Amino acid sequence: MSHGKQGRQEQRDTAAGRQPGTGGPGRRSLLGAAVLGAGGAALGLSGTARADDGRGGSGGRGVDSLPVPTVVAHRGASGYRPEHTLGSYQLALDMGAHVIEQDLVPTRDGHLVCRHENDITGTTDVAAHPEFADRKTTKSVDGKSLTGWFTEDFTLAELKTLRAEERIPQHRQENTVYDGRWEVPTLEEVLRWAEKEGQKRGRPVWLHIETKHPTYFRKLGLGLEEPLAKLLRAYGRHREHSPNFVQSFEPSSMERMSRLIDGPRVVLLSRASSRPWDFVESGDPRTVADLVKPEGLKWIASYAQGIGPTLDLVIPRDAEGRLTEPTTLVRDAHAENLLLHPYTMRNENTFLPVDYRKGTDPHAYGDVFGALKTYFATGIDGIFSDNPDTALLAAADFVNE
Ligand code: G3P
Ligand code: CA
Repeated sequence: MSHGKQGRQEQRDTAAGRQPGTGGPGRRSLLGAAVLGAGGAALGLSGTARADDGRGGSGGRGVDSLPVPTVVAHRGASGYRPEHTLGSYQLALDMGAHVIEQDLVPTRDGHLVCRHENDITGTTDVAAHPEFADRKTTKSVDGKSLTGWFTEDFTLAELKTLRAEERIPQHRQENTVYDGRWEVPTLEEVLRWAEKEGQKRGRPVWLHIETKHPTYFRKLGLGLEEPLAKLLRAYGRHREHSPNFVQSFEPSSMERMSRLIDGPRVVLLSRASSRPWDFVESGDPRTVADLVKPEGLKWIASYAQGIGPTLDLVIPRDAEGRLTEPTTLVRDAHAENLLLHPYTMRNENTFLPVDYRKGTDPHAYGDVFGALKTYFATGIDGIFSDNPDTALLAAADFVNE
């Protein structure tokens, strides 16, 4: 790294509330050193391969080994494949994504499967299965009334007869050619896949695993955290330096995980006025606006290693949807030694801040490199993206500029 680049990195460190030159919030030590990781080679870009045992057990070096900004493939490479399928995860890995995300919900017989929500109406072909027509129902999930088909009403064997479909065909028509190709994967299948791919590549495959609606499921007798911890333990991924994050919008889920495993935990933060559902259930009056204050961050840091804020908590948008000035969240979180993995970048105009849209077609790609550069400049440690190839290039630009 040239002296000039060093200077710019130190400026970024200072802006992000880090000790200049450390490139990280205390425990981080390799910021920018290997932004592309081993997978960068898939894009024809330079990067640093990491040797490891391929399994993520004792050979892993933990969060400090991850490139920064870290690119987390949101639901896999969901910009190009139906989300949460082995096809989506494989493509993300082949593109060089540093970390691959899973959202977890349970089946009726207690298996953990990868879906963004328990309502599988929009992401599977369940509606086309007459044998399950009578499972369609209306229920209240985290205070919202939903009508559809729900994973907790299916055994794993039944769920395995379904096939995954593209969630947003109106934006991603190309992805619909893959409808019907893949099953709903179990977490165990993903762990097996990650182990196999890790051994093949000589480096661990990092995962970012979210517990969905944990309080709701616990009340049904389908608590998520214990079976998740059991599976992570079975695959040697329960240690401090194991290659997976766990994450949740419900802080109590991460507190529970802190008692079950040692790996890094991330508290997700939705819009400022919202309240985590476990707070609603327990009568805790705090909102996300309270949690992003220094006192709230200090509390999160007592059981977690990071936060996953919505991007609007890092740079708010104005009434027209344009970016305004960054908040102090990056600095304040780093002061508590918390890393930040905000969500979610998507390449299509409709999901971008208004000032980064190109043309008037909502489905067309906008100036996503411009937007990513602006977000990376705040000092965030990583980002969830539906388009990991784009985010990887932007991260390389950012580190090398
Ligand atoms: O978990 C990070 C991000 O995925 C949170 O949003 O709703 O896509 O799970 P969601
Ligand atoms: Ca998620």
